[in-house]
Amino acid sequence: MTTNTPIHDVVREHYAERIKSNASCCGPSNCCTNDSNLYPADLLATLPAGETVVSYGCGDPITLASLQPGQVVLDLGSGAGLDCFFAAKQVGETGKVIGVDMTPEMLEQARRSAKRLGLNNVEFRQGFIEDLPVESNTVDVIISNCVINLSPNKSKVFAEAFRVLKPGGKLAVSDIVTDGPLPEAVKQSLSAWAGCVAGAVEAQDYIGMMEAVGFTNVSVTPVFFDRETVDAALEDMRLDVKEYPGEDVYKAVYSAKITAYKPQ
Ligand SMILES: C[S@@+](CC[C@H](N)C(=O)[O-])C[C@H]1O[C@@H](n2cnc3c(N)ncnc32)[C@H](O)[C@@H]1O
Repeated sequence: MTTNTPIHDVVREHYAERIKSNASCCGPSNCCTNDSNLYPADLLATLPAGETVVSYGCGDPITLASLQPGQVVLDLGSGAGLDCFFAAKQVGETGKVIGVDMTPEMLEQARRSAKRLGLNNVEFRQGFIEDLPVESNTVDVIISNCVINLSPNKSKVFAEAFRVLKPGGKLAVSDIVTDGPLPEAVKQSLSAWAGCVAGAVEAQDYIGMMEAVGFTNVSVTPVFFDRETVDAALEDMRLDVKEYPGEDVYKAVYSAKITAYKPQ
């Protein structure tokens, strides 16, 4: 059975286009900016001065992950590779980082940047996060930044994440979730899906899907952004907010810090 769906096609085309035009891409709450205000200055300082690697994320899964030297890290939907590069610095030569993404243009850019940065402990694999090209029980920490909301089969993503984690392994994710249901018109919009809005599910459902596959100690903490940041992100969206008069769509949608564990 093929994993690919029409939603995957729309999302892949959207991100191929974004990376080719080097544009920011995605929905509310600062999802997908070209600047790096998502990360603390000391983390950014671990990249060489003047280095710019584009971010399409909505948070900072690296700080959330508390990585240790020697760990094996997997990034779900690694995009242009920024989180993988931060992780590679933190796990060091005795550790390893694997980025998985379905969009060839993202993988090419990530591999070029890894080479330029001289990072030998990071590898990018083409694949779906619903069908990970990774051995079972081999990963210490899974990170992901603004990707799981884009999947049409989130339960499968969590089942795969659980499969590849070692017992005791940690999931540390930044993602978009909602507080209440989205209007049907928004849920049906493919551009809103690619923009990290329509695919977002209620936080309670997100937690339920994780617990159903075996994750424990699941924690979801909202991250709020200032008005200026949200306005800038809305401007970036291809979605016309005026299409949905009277619907305060974007108040319902927020970025969250999510952690969970595979039991020992
Ligand atoms: C919003 S961008 C985030 C990229 C990166 N995590 C970052 O923070 O810059 C979403 C990325 O996830 C990838 N992606 C989306 N759905 C995917 C899926 N089902 N399987 C694999 N990759 C996927 C896209 O190709 C894109 O590179």
